[in-house]
Amino acid sequence: MSGFTDKDVADQSGRCFIVTGANTGIGFGAARSLSARGARVLLACRDAAKADDAMAQIRRHTPAADLAHLPLDLADLDSVRAAADIAAGEPRIDVLVNNAGVMFPPLSRTRQGFELQFGVNHLGPFVLTSLLLPKLAETPGSRVVVTSSLAHQRGNLDWDDLNAERSYSRTQRYSDSKLANMLHFFELDRRLRAAGSPVTAIGCHPGVAATELMRHVGPFRVFTPLFGLLLNNADQGAWPALQAAADPSAEPGGYYGPQGMNGMKGPSGTAKRTQAAQDAGLALRLWDVSADMTGIDPGLAPA
Ligand SMILES: NC(=O)c1ccc[n+]([C@@H]2O[C@H](COP(=O)([O-])OP(=O)(O)OC[C@H]3O[C@@H](n4cnc5c(N)ncnc54)[C@H](OP(=O)(O)O)[C@@H]3O)[C@@H](O)[C@H]2O)c1
Repeated sequence: MSGFTDKDVADQSGRCFIVTGANTGIGFGAARSLSARGARVLLACRDAAKADDAMAQIRRHTPAADLAHLPLDLADLDSVRAAADIAAGEPRIDVLVNNAGVMFPPLSRTRQGFELQFGVNHLGPFVLTSLLLPKLAETPGSRVVVTSSLAHQRGNLDWDDLNAERSYSRTQRYSDSKLANMLHFFELDRRLRAAGSPVTAIGCHPGVAATELMRHVGPFRVFTPLFGLLLNNADQGAWPALQAAADPSAEPGGYYGPQGMNGMKGPSGTAKRTQAAQDAGLALRLWDVSADMTGIDPGLAPA
């Protein structure tokens, strides 16, 4: 099956990537591949010990890897602001890979009181991206990558109860957060183009990959190794993120994912998205609501 894999990542010397959730799973695979190609990689993780362990593992593979831990808890907007401030002190940021995510937790909330999946998977990345846009814009060819999922197809945002005050289905809220990811990069791309910005926004999804994402599904976690055998291991699950982040021919506003088994496995290429994921009205509404909820205005006029 043809398509983009880690072998297609060209030399990245002199470039700097932020990868959120880089201590494990897909983020770790992406960080390892990028550093093996000479990139500086900031591992944006909430747990310093896990980040240190991940950096040690990468250095076993690439002894000269240029790595640093960027403390980031997406469930706390103060932490997101602090991370953006630290990252702004870097000489350059070429790509922000919004990868970190949480799936199917019991009802829980971020520090600011947002439902956890919407908060960590969408609002945190919305704020991090918004605050880093000026820094990204200093570097020609810079990109924002947003990680969604096949689950976006079942997304149906409950505008009257985004904070899950009245009802909570852990599976539906995950799908909703992944539809929010689609709408985020769709709207961001349109606004960046309208503003003539040098930054582009690109989406990706990993298909199905054996990672720690199943940590909240109880006994069903036992099936995770099977995903690795039949579908993608974590490194293969990183191929779409690598294409979105580092393929010079990736399209602004494009969406990349595995090409095999209905988008579930294999090398990366252009992926399918639903009509709702490209609905300009929904995207505009989510942008405005996200800015209202977080108090962060990304400073880009509607297209
Ligand atoms: N695996 C799949 O089949 C699949 C399918 C579709 C989409 N995705 C998407 O792919 C992305 C990566 O998931 P994965 O499969 O690699 O899962 P994973 O192995 O569970 O990794 C998730 C990463 O996100 C981090 N994270 C969670 N909450 C965070 C927070 N509050 N602040 C900062 N980081 C946080 C985790 O850090 P800790 O280790 O500290 O918790 C971990 O590094 C997610 O966006 C997910 O929705 C995955």
